[in-house]
Amino acid sequence: MSIERTIRYTGEEVTILWKQHLCTHSKKCWQNLPAVFKPGERPWIHPDGADGPRIIDQVCQCPSGALSIAEPTTTSETNEPMNDETTTIELAPNGPLLVKGTIQVKHADGRVEVKETKCALCRCGASGNKPYCDGSHRSSGFQG
Ligand code: SF4
Ligand code: FES
Repeated sequence: MSIERTIRYTGEEVTILWKQHLCTHSKKCWQNLPAVFKPGERPWIHPDGADGPRIIDQVCQCPSGALSIAEPTTTSETNEPMNDETTTIELAPNGPLLVKGTIQVKHADGRVEVKETKCALCRCGASGNKPYCDGSHRSSGFQG
């Protein structure tokens, strides 16, 4: 199981939060905004690489919920604004179930997590971070 921790990247306008254990390595962030997300560098996120609204827009497109924005003066997190009460589940071709809404995850060891933004649940069985997708569906050649 991967370590569950949140890494902060603080910039002039926004602080980006990244939960490594939720990242499915979809590549969307670095393909769409390479001035901010640079997987070949350490640190790999550069929060001053683009203006705040552009970064927030990209963070909201993270399909797994690994990325979010923290208000500089509070500890609260925002991801995509919730505009209704409906929880939706979208099937990613050859990949995870993308869940958007409020869900409760009950782990086998009794831990309960409430997720209010987005997460990606493994559908291929190969994830090392179940029930979440960790991107292993690509190397396992999962189709479905
Ligand atoms: S899951 Fe999110 S953080 Fe991970 S690569 Fe995709 S867009 Fe970036
Ligand atoms: S669906 Fe992504 S690791 Fe299983």
